[in-house]
Amino acid sequence: MIRFSIIAALGRNFAIGFQNQLLWDISEDLRRFKKITMGSPIVMGRKTFDSIGRALPGRSNIIVTRNSKFFCPGVSAVHSVEESHDLAISLCSRDSCEEAFIIGGEQIYKLWLPLVSRLYLTKVDSEMRGDAFFPTFDPDDWEVKDRRPGEGANNLRYHFVTLDRKNKINFV
Ligand SMILES: NC(=O)c1ccc[n+]([C@@H]2O[C@H](COP(=O)([O-])OP(=O)(O)OC[C@H]3O[C@@H](n4cnc5c(N)ncnc54)[C@H](OP(=O)(O)O)[C@@H]3O)[C@@H](O)[C@H]2O)c1
Repeated sequence: MIRFSIIAALGRNFAIGFQNQLLWDISEDLRRFKKITMGSPIVMGRKTFDSIGRALPGRSNIIVTRNSKFFCPGVSAVHSVEESHDLAISLCSRDSCEEAFIIGGEQIYKLWLPLVSRLYLTKVDSEMRGDAFFPTFDPDDWEVKDRRPGEGANNLRYHFVTLDRKNKINFV
């Protein structure tokens, strides 16, 4: 059974980005992101892909876009959540991995949140101005599997929190 998980870094106000850029540059968080996602399919919106500017190596990059002409070497374009789900499953079985990651941004988190069973959150103790936000969710639907403080960087405090959904999801 393949698990779908969201991975995201958010501020106290749930901000995740501004002007198509990340809000923080936390190397410990980037290292953690790489370690967790390496070898697995990653699903992202076209704007997040633009902001990264390249395919992330060592992972199958799945880009969600409405643009049927979208083409970029080294990534797969899909045109719906359902298509991203099905492609991630087939890539996981091809590559013998057990987890696929939804890596943002706001629009794609919103579409996927009801469908994932785990959240890997970096909760940054700051309120940066943002124009992209993580969707709100009911903490009662989730149980904390792991929570630990980060080392801290650039005068920032943050925690790494892993949450598992309490109830099973029914894919239709
Ligand atoms: N802090 C974090 O962890 C984190 C992680 C990732 C991203 N971010 C930030 O999030 C921001 C970007 O988020 P965003 O919400 O603006 O963009 P996004 O979710 O990355 O991408 C949006 C794009 O996805 C495609 N899309 C959306 N819904 C679709 C659907 N139902 N079917 C097909 N395609 C669909 C569209 O692409 P087309 O326009 O091509 O049709 C849309 O423009 C940036 O600031 C980025 O830095 C933060």
